[in-house]
Amino acid sequence: MEDTSIEIKVCLGTSGRASGGSDVIRSFKRLIQESGIEARIGKRCGYKEVGCRGFCSKDVLVDVIINGSKRTYQSVKPIMVERIVKEHILDGTPVAEWLVNDDYESFHSKQHKIVLGPCGEISPESIDEYLGMNGYKSARRAITSMTPDEVIKKVYLSGLRGRGGSGFLTGRKWKICRNQPDAPKYIICNIGEVNRALAEGNPHAIIEGLLIGGYAIGTDKGYLYIRERYHLSVERLRTAIAQAREKGFLGKGLFGTGFDFDIEFSFGTEAFICGEETALMESIEGKRAMPRPRPPFPAQRGLWGKPTVINNAETLSNIPIIIGKGPAWFSSIGTEESKGTKVFTLSGKVKNNGLVEIPMGMSLRDIVYGIGGGIDGGRALKAVQVGGPSGGLIPVSMIDMGLDYENLSKVGSIVGSGGMVVFDEEDCIVSVTRFLLEFLQRESCGKCTPCRVGTKRMFELLTKITDGNGEEADLFTLERLSAIMSASSLCGLGRTAANPFITSLSHFKGEYLAHIRDKKCPAGVCTALITFVVADDLCKGCGLCRKKCPANAITGEVKKPHRIDSGLCVKCGACYKACKFKAIKKV
Ligand SMILES: Cc1cc2nc3c(=O)[nH]c(=O)nc-3n(C[C@H](O)[C@H](O)[C@H](O)COP(=O)(O)O)c2cc1C
Ligand code: SF4
Ligand code: SF4
Repeated sequence: MEDTSIEIKVCLGTSGRASGGSDVIRSFKRLIQESGIEARIGKRCGYKEVGCRGFCSKDVLVDVIINGSKRTYQSVKPIMVERIVKEHILDGTPVAEWLVNDDYESFHSKQHKIVLGPCGEISPESIDEYLGMNGYKSARRAITSMTPDEVIKKVYLSGLRGRGGSGFLTGRKWKICRNQPDAPKYIICNIGEVNRALAEGNPHAIIEGLLIGGYAIGTDKGYLYIRERYHLSVERLRTAIAQAREKGFLGKGLFGTGFDFDIEFSFGTEAFICGEETALMESIEGKRAMPRPRPPFPAQRGLWGKPTVINNAETLSNIPIIIGKGPAWFSSIGTEESKGTKVFTLSGKVKNNGLVEIPMGMSLRDIVYGIGGGIDGGRALKAVQVGGPSGGLIPVSMIDMGLDYENLSKVGSIVGSGGMVVFDEEDCIVSVTRFLLEFLQRESCGKCTPCRVGTKRMFELLTKITDGNGEEADLFTLERLSAIMSASSLCGLGRTAANPFITSLSHFKGEYLAHIRDKKCPAGVCTALITFVVADDLCKGCGLCRKKCPANAITGEVKKPHRIDSGLCVKCGACYKACKFKAIKKV
């Protein structure tokens, strides 16, 4: 064992921590010390607290690397650590049943990780590890040997478009801002939900991107706008900023030039509207986050009335790589109009969920079945909702569609915040649409009437339909409201809020009509439209449903078919879930 090098990496992103990663690390430290491994191998046994590898459903993930050979464990609990130390580290035999399986391999191998690549591999708290992977080389190169216009040209030629959902060419946005005669200027990094993993896993890439952007537009001031609740992201970014200042990558006279640049935090609340760029600027200025009319655009008159660039954290994380590897390399990935990769949060009824980074243009089929491992429980795929709350519902018939800005826009969806939710045959599309409108009407800031009133009316009409009181005329009213809101709302929230309804109506009209005309919910979800009954031929009379029923609505003798009194039934579904013989039916 003299020359053995042992390294243990424990995932400590938000999900890793929530799953008990800190306790797992403590157990490793204690057991390794108790086992006297340190004494036998000297000081070569290291620990790393790494960020998220994206496969959150299998946290806590732990790598054990012995002499460079890595084995990864999934769903590790502190109680499992003793066996891993004893059998794997001491005896050299990995605990086979706890190692990651094929799902883990296909989840990762089918992705194209650029910005997520270092997450989970390097320690986000060590600037040296970032420097070890050429960190801050691009910033040095840009600031010491390129003019701001050359930097902008590279970013423009790469074809990078805003990853916050708007899809505006980043190079063009920077150029508009740089060309404004007014000063000072500002650059803001918008860190929303999907970006948390980047901030937790590789915060220096965001800082370096912001630094390069600041140089390109000609400002000495950058802001990190982040939701206050993302404590771990804030902590890691704070550490990274302090380290960058110490190394002379932030502050005055950077890299021996006359260029100064530093970063300040600004905190937002959890409100969805805080991500909208003009509302975000109001928030930084200390006002209530409400959008401003455009034009003027932020690049012309933004924060404090001065030219301002707002970029998403994923957009900025791509910048050092583009400067380092060149625009041609970047634009060779993706499609004609949509270059590079995009991070999505894959969730819903898919087997493997988590954060995924795909080359633009990858088909929904490859994402859901290749990376996601298919539908949980083997049921049939029904639709995928792409683009966050105001994204569109894409039906299974379009599963071979490649995901990029153009295709998504053609089907009435958006890239949006990068949300991707998979629905199966047991999901009711009308109910899903109602749920999304409920969220959007709650999040509407209320500044303009089409959105404030429109989202509320849409939610009420959708509720009327799921309650079984819908009329066909309601669909026309919903369509009219959608058109008005899309055309006349002040900001993106109101303008896209009807997307879920418009797309679901065009692909699932039959489901709406079943609710309205037949008073049936085909998926058996809308409680007002379903009745629970017992199928006599399947019922074994075990009585389990009777025991579970909170309303005493089920009667029956042992080994004889049971009965449900629909007058007493409160439609909680407990009997449906409990019956092992599938004898309870929704009709
Ligand atoms: C209601 C609403 C919420 C938004 N939320 C976010 C968000 O959380 N994060 C984000 O990056 N962009 C969000 N956006 C989009 C941003 O306004 C904007 O597109 C982005 O931050 C600009 O950077 P980009 O050019 O790099 O995409 C939101 C837009 C709207 C209309
Ligand atoms: S569209 Fe909605 S969120 Fe946007 S300004 Fe109008 S009311 Fe506010
Ligand atoms: S759905 Fe709930 S209330 Fe109705 S019979 Fe089943 S368990 Fe009882």
